[in-house]
Amino acid sequence: MSAPTEPVVISGKPNELSSAVLPRTHASMVPVRILGKPYEVPLGLTILKAYEYAGFRMVRGVGCRGGICGACATVYRMDGDHRRKTGLACQTAVRSGMILAPLPFYPTTRPDYDLAAFGDPALGVVQVYPEVQNCLGCNACNKICPQGIDVMGYIAAILKGDLEKASDLSFDCIMCGLCASTCPAEISQLNTALLARRLYARYMIKGSSKVPTRVAEIRSGRYEAELSRLVAADESELKKLYAARELPGTMVEK
Ligand code: FES
Repeated sequence: MSAPTEPVVISGKPNELSSAVLPRTHASMVPVRILGKPYEVPLGLTILKAYEYAGFRMVRGVGCRGGICGACATVYRMDGDHRRKTGLACQTAVRSGMILAPLPFYPTTRPDYDLAAFGDPALGVVQVYPEVQNCLGCNACNKICPQGIDVMGYIAAILKGDLEKASDLSFDCIMCGLCASTCPAEISQLNTALLARRLYARYMIKGSSKVPTRVAEIRSGRYEAELSRLVAADESELKKLYAARELPGTMVEK
């Protein structure tokens, strides 16, 4: 396969970064197909960077680049292998023979509801999404989830009204939509889990004793000086502050 003569553009301008940052003559180039067209991309890139290297300007289908936001779901097959595979483009390394298609959005059902108006919260998800009762227990959702979530397990918990378990099992959901894309019962699992967590938080969890303290601190102006400093900081100062930030696990209770 040869390198593209012109950048391919999903939307807007060609991505100037792609060819500027990465030379087109890399020692280990691998052939892939992106949206059906052949490209050669450097081995060692993520799929997301391979898209950009090939000239795609990612207007949708990219967010955090860190496996958190769920925006970069990608569907692919390996050349000669009938099995469909999926992954997060920002977390999956590109390999020779990949046939790739970004899936920046998958349509799901998401009716409006008033979170304060549920009579029996344990039945709330089934009332809003009655199709959850059509779950076949086929395991397709578990198999496709890039987060390794027990999707089928949280649907079973929702059906039993166990919103604590459903919330716990679905907590790492990044809303990429891959579960909904493969479900033969046409359930929008990600949205049912979101409602389960909302109902659990609204009706079943006791409030944290720390919240009133923190609200009082905010109202007293304790963070105003720090906030003003951030608002006034220029880019280099912000970069320094970002590099020196406290990371989860290193924070200490003050
Ligand atoms: S860009 Fe956010 S998960 Fe990949």
